[in-house]
Amino acid sequence: MSIQSKTKRFGILTAGGDCPGLNAAIRGVCRAAHDQYGMEIIGIANGFRGLIVEDAKVLKPDDFTGILTRGGTILGSSREKPFGAADKDEDASEKVSAIKETYSKLGLDCLVILGGNGTNTTGYNFSREGLNIIGLPKTIDNDIVGTDRTFGFHSALAIGTEAIDRLHSTAQSHSRVIVIELMGHKAGWLALYAGVAGGGDIILIPEIPYDINVIAGHLEKRAKSGKTFSIVVVAEGALSVQEDRLDKKARKQYRIENGPSAAYRIAREILAATGMETRATVLGYVQRGGIPSASDRVLATSLGTAAAKLLADGKYGRMVALVGSEIASVDLSVPEGKVKNVPVDHYMISTARAVGTCMGV
Ligand code: F6P
Repeated sequence: MSIQSKTKRFGILTAGGDCPGLNAAIRGVCRAAHDQYGMEIIGIANGFRGLIVEDAKVLKPDDFTGILTRGGTILGSSREKPFGAADKDEDASEKVSAIKETYSKLGLDCLVILGGNGTNTTGYNFSREGLNIIGLPKTIDNDIVGTDRTFGFHSALAIGTEAIDRLHSTAQSHSRVIVIELMGHKAGWLALYAGVAGGGDIILIPEIPYDINVIAGHLEKRAKSGKTFSIVVVAEGALSVQEDRLDKKARKQYRIENGPSAAYRIAREILAATGMETRATVLGYVQRGGIPSASDRVLATSLGTAAAKLLADGKYGRMVALVGSEIASVDLSVPEGKVKNVPVDHYMISTARAVGTCMGV
């Protein structure tokens, strides 16, 4: 017997980079919305692209059963940003109109979007265009303002930590320095947490530009004390103090000339500064694939069912969130256009330093 709901029919999509826990969240939203409130559900394929090209279908319970533990997203995803390049992209206003048209053609009362900063920003923009939107915070980067944690982060942290554990034995066997790169273009949460969990000797994150002389000094000190190997954990967006001084265009050029991968750039710099045998490993998409951790399943399910409650109550224009230890929601203007960086006074940075980890400065 279904409880009275303000939302009768809604669309659901996943946008941006995938992550473990998306299917658990889809299941959470759909199960609660369908079973408790009797809502009709339209699955939109491949993020906002599905709304542009009208690629959508009714989801029945069979579609969202057995997906709790599956990686990726049953809906598909894309990096389509309908407002994204509004100043450059001549098609932008056409895309926005097409999406609004599909929304009304499908008879939606609301659109549920599962995504990161970009997706929730797009959601906020559509709210301002008059669409009813509810957002869920997903990303392995854990960099969404308004929530204390995103689903996907915990699974990626476990994968990153295991990789660091495995690198320890090979680094030790060969007496090498190994630089491992984890995802996190703008925010260093993943590298910082995995670095601490895996006992990295040096952790470099975008929020703290590094000085190669400090890194070299730390590695040499370790070598002198009899430690024959070192593990350097770097975020994809790690940068030197020199790079930090460059403007966007000059930095882009620097990376064209020196290689796009932080791990390889830093490994070269370490070799040049110390002469130590150094190798680089980029973990890449392995971090985003596969089954979600138990913690991400729990978070995704809780946020999904909370989103269904917002749908039932007709509370639109919000993103569900973990605030402290409570499941809550924030206005979509909260994450809009922002990145949640690691504060330089965050306790995990002092924790890392307290166990002797060098943060690059
Ligand atoms: O999902 C966010 C993220 O994992 C970032 O850390 C990374 O920069 C980005 O995805 C790369 O993903 P893609 O190649 O799919 O754009």
